[in-house]
Amino acid sequence: MWLLIGIMEWNIICPGWKIHHFVWNILLTCLIVNSFTGALSTVVALGANVICSKIPGLTPRQRAICQSRPDAIIAIGEGAERGIQECRFQFRNGRWNCTAPGHKETLFGEELPKDVAGNREAAFKHAIHSAGVTHAITQACSQGNLTNCSCDRSKETGFTEEGWRWGGCSADISYGLRFSRIFVDAGESAENARALMNLHNNEVGRKVVKRNMGTECKCHGVSGSCTMKTCWTTLPSFRMVGDLLKAKYDSPLEVEPVRARRTRQPAFLKVKDTKSDAFTKPRSSNLVFLQKSPNYCDFNPISGSMGTVGRFCNRTSTGTDGCDLMCCGRGYNTHQYTKIWQCNCKFHWCCYVRCSQCSEQTEEYTCK
Ligand SMILES: *[C@@H]1O[C@H](CO)[C@@H](O)[C@H](O)[C@H]1NC(C)=O
Ligand SMILES: *[C@@H]1O[C@H](CO)[C@@H](O)[C@H](O)[C@H]1NC(C)=O
Ligand SMILES: *[C@@H]1O[C@H](CO)[C@@H](O)[C@H](O)[C@H]1NC(C)=O
Ligand SMILES: *[C@@H]1O[C@H](CO)[C@@H](O)[C@H](O)[C@H]1NC(C)=O
Repeated sequence: MWLLIGIMEWNIICPGWKIHHFVWNILLTCLIVNSFTGALSTVVALGANVICSKIPGLTPRQRAICQSRPDAIIAIGEGAERGIQECRFQFRNGRWNCTAPGHKETLFGEELPKDVAGNREAAFKHAIHSAGVTHAITQACSQGNLTNCSCDRSKETGFTEEGWRWGGCSADISYGLRFSRIFVDAGESAENARALMNLHNNEVGRKVVKRNMGTECKCHGVSGSCTMKTCWTTLPSFRMVGDLLKAKYDSPLEVEPVRARRTRQPAFLKVKDTKSDAFTKPRSSNLVFLQKSPNYCDFNPISGSMGTVGRFCNRTSTGTDGCDLMCCGRGYNTHQYTKIWQCNCKFHWCCYVRCSQCSEQTEEYTCK
């Protein structure tokens, strides 16, 4: 388990070492493990104040929450990591692969360069991050990792109409949602259209987790008969959350800010509609964006595009991972290599295994 703190930042505390850490009451303890021998060589105990001030990319409000809830830091980091990994998985075949030039991983997921536009990729990132924090906090509650929450017992009030009852450990999704609203939404300090967009997409991510909660049951009774049944609510798998958000990314809504009459500040968002002046607020089932995306073909730090030079592509695929689309028509390089592996392994009595060596000529393609 890794807390996503910029390596540069950590090096101040634990220079040159692989770092493991855990929360121990109010102290965050940083164990420095020698990466060659695995031996514990130094233990540094740091207060939450030090840790929270060292995490880059937090707003002052998030820093204050971090200091008042040190027990939640690990779960927040876990949620951010979940979001990043899922984003990379969902977009592994895309020109945009969830990475932007100059990106820095932080506890808040990823610090985007300030001038990156409010496009649908930013929308996805906010939604998956917010969903990740909701998911990890709720799970941490169920696992007893947090001081202020545990399993949701609110439904355990006797038998339901169908004759079973709530029991076991129901995931306390309302705590996870509340926590994510407080912590993740505190990442928006400015009052502008981009902040309204981010807050909306944060909520989209949380709603996907909430609306896909499941139920699991267990039967008690003589030899498998279901005379007694207890059920509890469960979190959806994070892959399912990722798949659903990816589908929303594929059909997002373009919005524009509506300014308050007196202050001229953006007050809320409305769906952009070139045909009428009607005000339609976007629903929390849709991701929203303010600006069109670049085509991500060329490197451009201003628009947040890494370009696709050097990306692997698939010569026979007609999808976005196909060389035509991935390389934007620039063509591709072919690399030939021989893949060698152990095969036809046989166990001999007693006791050794003998294998033969198999090999295959393979080709790989990378964009020019
Ligand atoms: C809860 O704590 C355990 C043990 O420290 C850890 O392995 C697990 O990942 C934690 N769960 C979450 C969701 O943070
Ligand atoms: C725990 O929850 C209670 C009630 O919601 C709140 O007053 C208290 O501040 C919380 N404790 C922490 C450590 O956040
Ligand atoms: C995404 O693509 C860029 C090149 O366009 C590459 O440098 C980067 O490592 C890729 N990221 C992942 C997570 O694959
Ligand atoms: C390339 O794409 C084809 C067609 O979509 C697929 O069958 C094949 O498995 C892909 N190859 C690799 C190496 O991913």
